Amino acid sequence: MQTSETIHPDKSIDTVLEVAPKAPGRAARVTELDDSYVIHGQHANLLLTFLECGLFRIKLFHGNKPEFKAATVAVLSEAFQPVKADRTESPEAFEFRTSALRLIVEKETFALTVQTPEGELLMKQPTLSWTTRGSLSGSYVMGTDSHFYGLGEKTSFLDKRGERYAMWNSDVFAPHVPEIEALYESIPLLIHMHQTGTYGLFLDNPGRTDFDMRTHPDLFTIQCTTGEYDLYFIFGPQPKDVVGRYTKLTGRISMPPKWSLGYHQSRYSYMNQQEVLELARTFRERNIPCDVIHLDIHYMDQYRVFTFDKDRFPDPEGMMAELKKLGMRIVPIVDPGVKKDPKYPIYREGIENGYFCKKLEGELFIGDVWPGKSAFPDFTEDAVGKWWGEKHKFYVDLGITGIWNDMNEPAVFNESKTMDLDVIHGNNGDSKTHEELHNLYGMMMSKATFESLREQLGGERPFVLTRAGYSGVQRYAAVWTGDNRSFWEHMAMAIPMVLNLGLSGIPFTGPDIGGFAHHSTGQLLARWTQMGALFPFCRNHSVIDSVRQEPWSFGEETEAICRTYIELRYRWMPVLYTLFHEASRTGMPILRPLVLEYPHDPQVTNLSDQFLFGSSVLVAPVYRPDTEHRAVYIPEGEWIDYWSGEKHAGPKHILAHAPLHIMPMYIKAGAILAEEPLKQHADERTAASLTWNIYASGGSSEGTVYEDDGITYGYEQGAYNVIRMSTEAADGGMKLAWAYEHTGLPDADRSFLIRIKLAGFVPAAVEGLQRLEAGVIDREQSAAGWTYDEAAGEILIRTADTPQQILHIRA
Ligand code: GLC
Repeated sequence: MQTSETIHPDKSIDTVLEVAPKAPGRAARVTELDDSYVIHGQHANLLLTFLECGLFRIKLFHGNKPEFKAATVAVLSEAFQPVKADRTESPEAFEFRTSALRLIVEKETFALTVQTPEGELLMKQPTLSWTTRGSLSGSYVMGTDSHFYGLGEKTSFLDKRGERYAMWNSDVFAPHVPEIEALYESIPLLIHMHQTGTYGLFLDNPGRTDFDMRTHPDLFTIQCTTGEYDLYFIFGPQPKDVVGRYTKLTGRISMPPKWSLGYHQSRYSYMNQQEVLELARTFRERNIPCDVIHLDIHYMDQYRVFTFDKDRFPDPEGMMAELKKLGMRIVPIVDPGVKKDPKYPIYREGIENGYFCKKLEGELFIGDVWPGKSAFPDFTEDAVGKWWGEKHKFYVDLGITGIWNDMNEPAVFNESKTMDLDVIHGNNGDSKTHEELHNLYGMMMSKATFESLREQLGGERPFVLTRAGYSGVQRYAAVWTGDNRSFWEHMAMAIPMVLNLGLSGIPFTGPDIGGFAHHSTGQLLARWTQMGALFPFCRNHSVIDSVRQEPWSFGEETEAICRTYIELRYRWMPVLYTLFHEASRTGMPILRPLVLEYPHDPQVTNLSDQFLFGSSVLVAPVYRPDTEHRAVYIPEGEWIDYWSGEKHAGPKHILAHAPLHIMPMYIKAGAILAEEPLKQHADERTAASLTWNIYASGGSSEGTVYEDDGITYGYEQGAYNVIRMSTEAADGGMKLAWAYEHTGLPDADRSFLIRIKLAGFVPAAVEGLQRLEAGVIDREQSAAGWTYDEAAGEILIRTADTPQQILHIRA
């Protein structure tokens, strides 16, 4: 017997209705509303707010009352005092002018154009349209000179031209290949660079959004499937200006604890307490610097968060005490899934207080993850975040100050790979479906973790590492790039991925060094550790049942190479730390694509296998097996081979010789790189001396060191130093000067060793200082004086660390 289902409309071939998308229609008039403007269209309106002269928000809305509130916590509206634009109207258009740009709205078409004050085209949005099903789409003009960056954590090359990506936080174990459109992080920021200038478009929508730079020959599109079209136009004109403005909008990192900038060792999993302690001792015995060991899911009692497995880890206090003596920290993993078990207090409390995610009808959302059936806290509710955060007292009481948030897309072992889209999030009274808020889940978890740790740590800085995130995640957590593989291709892919994360406002990132899944080899680990040692986040991590990949796992040669580069990271800690400080103040990434520093150089728009560590160290890793040579692009200026001292005048390509122990690196002439004595962990007490490596070029150079106690927030009250060192040519010799631009730390009572490389002259005297025997000056206890190393062409000066000084070096 058939039922009426036989004639279900979905079975008909006549049901596909082609409906043209709807558009705002003619722009009729402009009104002012508080600090904003409303551009009234026939069918929809646009809310326009100039947050700054070079930064405006446009939001499409229907009806009379726009919602001013920012769509998500990503946006720091309080950082801005909106500005008024000069407004004019012609028969064809409405125009808004600020000192930085002109925004023109064509009346007939509602097309938006942004021009420089001189009238050059920066951006054109010919259409903004929507469908009755709720998706909205904007199209934007692109030219043959267009290049695209940002978009957070994506596969493929640096320049995203010709690509299409989705923003939908996804647990992708495999494959991480160029055609994968969505990974764990979603940063809906697209940076468009073209000849007239660079701008960013940030669509603040935590539902699914799509960025398509592929389908149309002369347009790219930005689309969302749910929620609002709430777009920020972020002017350059340089890429650095876009990054600076975007990070003013979504926040910058605060100074992380220095130990978190050290080397991290991880594995899924170090299975028990003995293994962890053995591992820590091995690092110390082998003199490989290391600050952190990560505990993956096996530390828990049947994967219940906020527990230790009593058989594997019978004495966490004892373990922590032992590790402390060794100067090692623990960062345990905390996933959001809470095991459904009425005897488990966290589950019970969550249920009793209504803290877990539910459907509209009240049914709890239960999904399978490591612990089996699990419930998921609703982190969109402040009260839930607070409850979750307070639970971390369990770790804090053990002396743990860093937490690793994983599986927080959230990942669920089901067909959709995540939470059901019809789950309702409380969202502090403004409830929304999971479909609308999906990309926020992981960040809200890290926010709760970070904020609560900060409260509980009594003035110490917490460290949070996250897999999933949304714009603004940089305020709460470092990001690692998830489950890559021990493939050479994945080592290579990590470069543009981390570079674009940096351009997307997230400076503290890195991949699993050596590769997570599959099996590493000695050569791969050696090459990857060379590169990873200069990445902002530096952690070796590998999957269960893979071959071991601790630095010593592949024999002496690999171990020695890993040690050398990890040591370099620790020696260069003043440089790294100063770069983090810069990131915290300006948003500039630590690892930079060359296009950020040389935006006018056509050779670097898609240069995906080289990067800059800061602005003056050019790094060209070798990312192929059995390869001893590689092409390196040297940009404009003079660059000095870090290993051989050879000078190269850019722009040009060179062929670098790079046997396994060498990763090609070049220092920009005029740079100054400060080093500290080698430590086995970042907080180790060593001689306080600081070595300034001056790559003098034509006599002039400049460098800065920022320092604070590395652990507290004292720097916010001024407890930090900024030391500026510089040289300039003078009378055939050189003038060397330094000064404390800010003094806020107790006297370090240390000496400076100043190494002037490539001075270009033979020194006869350093005024006020005695000449010392070569070899003496290198010693920490050496008296003040100077010497000349003829073979290296290096002038060495040892001085006391005085607040400021000028030294004349006579030729
Ligand atoms: C996920 C993480 C990985 C971790 C594993 C077990 O795959 O991305 O880093 O080791 O879960 O917790």
